[in-house]
Amino acid sequence: CQDARIARIAAAIRVIPNFPKPGIMFQDITTLLLDTRAFRDTIDLFVERYKDRDISVVAGIEARGFIFGPPVALAIGAKFVPLRKPNKLPGEVISEEYSLEYGKDKMEMHVGAVQAGERALVIDDLIATGGTLCAAISLLERVGVHVVECACVIELPELKGRERLEDKPLFVLVDAA
Ligand code: PRP
Repeated sequence: CQDARIARIAAAIRVIPNFPKPGIMFQDITTLLLDTRAFRDTIDLFVERYKDRDISVVAGIEARGFIFGPPVALAIGAKFVPLRKPNKLPGEVISEEYSLEYGKDKMEMHVGAVQAGERALVIDDLIATGGTLCAAISLLERVGVHVVECACVIELPELKGRERLEDKPLFVLVDAA
């Protein structure tokens, strides 16, 4: 049953206090990857939700979207497109700047990886403020791609990232305190 799978996933995520700095409760998904049943449940829940949604692109956000995105893409018959940190992709890129708590960051995608009119799912491990997912949505929409939904394993509801996504649907498996 779905609730048992969600409970197993939640239990497999390790929380490490004060990493990478004091006051942050780091949601560590590497322990989820060690639990073969919980990892499989995670991928299955995403696949069950997206298999009949006519999605041609799964866009994964660096770094941990690269872990959850590809198995989902293969299972639903979509291609996988990495959205990377700056100066990592070797070909021509389109980039999107976004603001962090302190300073700015940039997300890049290869030109030609997606075509206008395609339907995309954006995957990452976690939504906090929502800034990263917003940048991914903007990047894809700028080249004419329709973002069907964003999917994360974990949401930090207190940071209200969901509100920042406005009308863009967000699906998450586990809420973190
Ligand atoms: C984390 C997480 C998301 C992002 C969410 O990545 O994996 O990508 O933060 O934060 P937001 O909703 O406030 O934008 P991190 O910045 O730790 O980078 P990393 O994946 O390279 O470790």
